Amino acid sequence: MDSFLPYITGDGSVGLYSEEFNDIYHSGYGALTEAYEKFVTPNLGLEDNIKVLDICYGLGYNSKAFLNFNSNKKNILFDCLEIDKNLILLSPFIKTNHTLKDYFIKPKNKHARIGKYKKYKIDSWVNKILMENLFEEFKQDFYLKSILDNSKFAPYLDAKMIKIGKFYQKNRINTISEPQNRLNLHNIYYQYLSKRYKVSSKNGIKFNFYIDDARNTVKKLKNKYDVIFLDAFTTDKCPQLWSLDFIKELYKLSNENCVLLTYSNSVLVRNTLIEAGFFVGKILNKENKSIGTIASKNKSKIINKLTEFELGLLKTRAGIPYRDVNLSCTANEIINTRKKEVEESKLITSSKYLKDRGKK
Ligand SMILES: C[S@@+](CC[C@H](N)C(=O)[O-])C[C@H]1O[C@@H](n2cnc3c(N)ncnc32)[C@H](O)[C@@H]1O
Repeated sequence: MDSFLPYITGDGSVGLYSEEFNDIYHSGYGALTEAYEKFVTPNLGLEDNIKVLDICYGLGYNSKAFLNFNSNKKNILFDCLEIDKNLILLSPFIKTNHTLKDYFIKPKNKHARIGKYKKYKIDSWVNKILMENLFEEFKQDFYLKSILDNSKFAPYLDAKMIKIGKFYQKNRINTISEPQNRLNLHNIYYQYLSKRYKVSSKNGIKFNFYIDDARNTVKKLKNKYDVIFLDAFTTDKCPQLWSLDFIKELYKLSNENCVLLTYSNSVLVRNTLIEAGFFVGKILNKENKSIGTIASKNKSKIINKLTEFELGLLKTRAGIPYRDVNLSCTANEIINTRKKEVEESKLITSSKYLKDRGKK
């Protein structure tokens, strides 16, 4: 926790800044808004029995927002990949009850003055289910005393979830009978046992956590996924998780209708996805601005296609992928290998491509 600093993002949800990576974990305009806009709303048409691969789980905003949004679906499995165990353990305790900015859905009639508003939120039952999964998996380590009792972090943490966490820790709840569990929890915090929670917890929601470099984990996974979140730090900070070799592993893990979602709009990322075999398109926000990339083996999943101009840009030097053949190089090695390949490349530069087409 010393290496990352919490702060309140633009929509009132908690974000983190990493001193080690000198990078933000969450977009300054809103950690939760970003999770919804980039990782949830583009997933249309999912049925029950969903398998999600959350790469770079962090505080879990993407999986949590996804679960909140898909609360009517049965059997959702989340395989969560993250290198930092502390973040995973912290995830159910982060405050979710901020007043979030309303999300404006464009009215059909462009002259209408008031559109429909939808509030982004994460309900308490999501954190509660997550907490149960974490407790089962991590038992002894589950409760991060040093962090959760540290007054420095108190404004960012949900006091009620901490109360329940302490209860789990103290009573080793899995050794008590389920009805007794519920009664005890009801007594300490009855609001959390809402009708909705009871329904959802029966619906087969499971989180698995893999604490390791995601490059090691992807080689071991056996599932095929319906949805993949790729939320790594930017390409220059974490090239390990954007290399062609890593993305090829994700291609193998995708089922035929899988959608891979990432916040990145970068030419390098989009071209890498294409070279790995995916069809690629844009994630658009409510102002029709591209706020990320969607990739799939199934062409029909790509609603917002790249234009001819954008596709041309991918085939300039800027689109040359990172290589990491054995998925074991350091960030510097990966960056330097690409630098050399770019220097020796016969492709035109992106600036020439833009200049030739009258763009800056
Ligand atoms: C941009 S943040 C993701 C934020 C996260 N999705 C959330 O909802 O809080 C990037 C995350 O990648 C993790 N990370 C960095 N390198 C990694 C690696 N090689 N394998 C797995 N996770 C990694 C960091 O610890 C950090 O939590």
